[in-house]
Amino acid sequence: KAPPKRILVTGAAGQIGYAICPMIARGAMLGPDQPVILHMLDIEPAKQALEGVKMELIDAAYPLLAGVVATTDAEEACKGVDVAVMVGGFPRKAGMERKDVMSKNVAIYKAQAAALEKGAAAGCKVLVVANPANTNALILKENAPSIPAENITCLTRLDHNRAVGQLAERSGVHNTKVKNVIIWGNHSSTQYPDVNHATIDGKPAREVIGNDEYLDGEFIQVVQQRGAAIIKARGLSSALSAASSACDHIRDWVLGTPADGSYVSMGVYSDGSYGAPKGVIYSFPVTCKDGKWTIVQGLSIDDKSAAKMKATGDELVEEKALALECLAESALGPNNM
Ligand code: NAI
Repeated sequence: KAPPKRILVTGAAGQIGYAICPMIARGAMLGPDQPVILHMLDIEPAKQALEGVKMELIDAAYPLLAGVVATTDAEEACKGVDVAVMVGGFPRKAGMERKDVMSKNVAIYKAQAAALEKGAAAGCKVLVVANPANTNALILKENAPSIPAENITCLTRLDHNRAVGQLAERSGVHNTKVKNVIIWGNHSSTQYPDVNHATIDGKPAREVIGNDEYLDGEFIQVVQQRGAAIIKARGLSSALSAASSACDHIRDWVLGTPADGSYVSMGVYSDGSYGAPKGVIYSFPVTCKDGKWTIVQGLSIDDKSAAKMKATGDELVEEKALALECLAESALGPNNM
């Protein structure tokens, strides 16, 4: 058997943590032949709950689980990790300004970037899930200069999978036959779920669905607002699907996307492809091979799409400016963003 890989999950005592740790221990992230050691980090108030999760993981006797580290010490948690799934963060509470939330998360991601930079294994792959996911990932990138930018990503695969799910439900075709939807931009309500290159059972999605009004209206809104709809229905956020999509994100990144060239969406450090702003973490269509992602090039973009891609890019530039302001205002100093 292969030597175990170490996987960090921050915020492991939270909802997504509780859903994702068992998935990882069952091989959903790195495959059925790869033993794993889970490194679970949370904060002091959640220490006891974190211990409880560790107890349950031991009780589940997973064949692939070679060890569990449960700690409130970021440096201990980051030591030797091959994959880091950053779920921990400060949630927006009623009455809080966007800037207050940003300021809390900027501080967390700056500190955890330092812990990762110090302790993570060479080549560590980082996935930021906690919101604002794109900007948290950017802060992490800026504060961990020895980790290559290409190794720091954020989760938009949940939005991607939501789009696939909607097209499958609408067409009555199984989700495995729905390919090449794209999520452009920010993991927020400005994201652009694009079906112009999508296929359903090998045929253009627009042809199969046969209702452009739905695809250009309701479909986009349902995907953009799905998170809020789930909170409304469940009284809790979408932890199961977020956890499952985070596993999909890392699995495809490490083990590769299908050889037929079909692609997935990932938030990655923008090189300016398709007119996206450079220097932000923007969601693009990517293929993955040998542990590396590549932005799919040469897709035709119509004017309507270009406008939506610009709007979500503008929001990311604005978020970056807000994050910079928070950094500058904190005693920690502005860094080199
Ligand atoms: P939760 O509140 O249940 O769990 C968050 C956990 O993070 C808590 O246990 C908390 O103690 C911990 N935490 C807080 N600060 C920390 C720190 N500095 N270090 C380590 N742990 C820390 O929240 P839930 O539902 O698990 O969601 C987690 C995050 O994921 C939220 O920010 C949420 O908005 C985001 N999210 C992102 C999605 C995406 O598609 N990108 C989808 C769904 C949720």
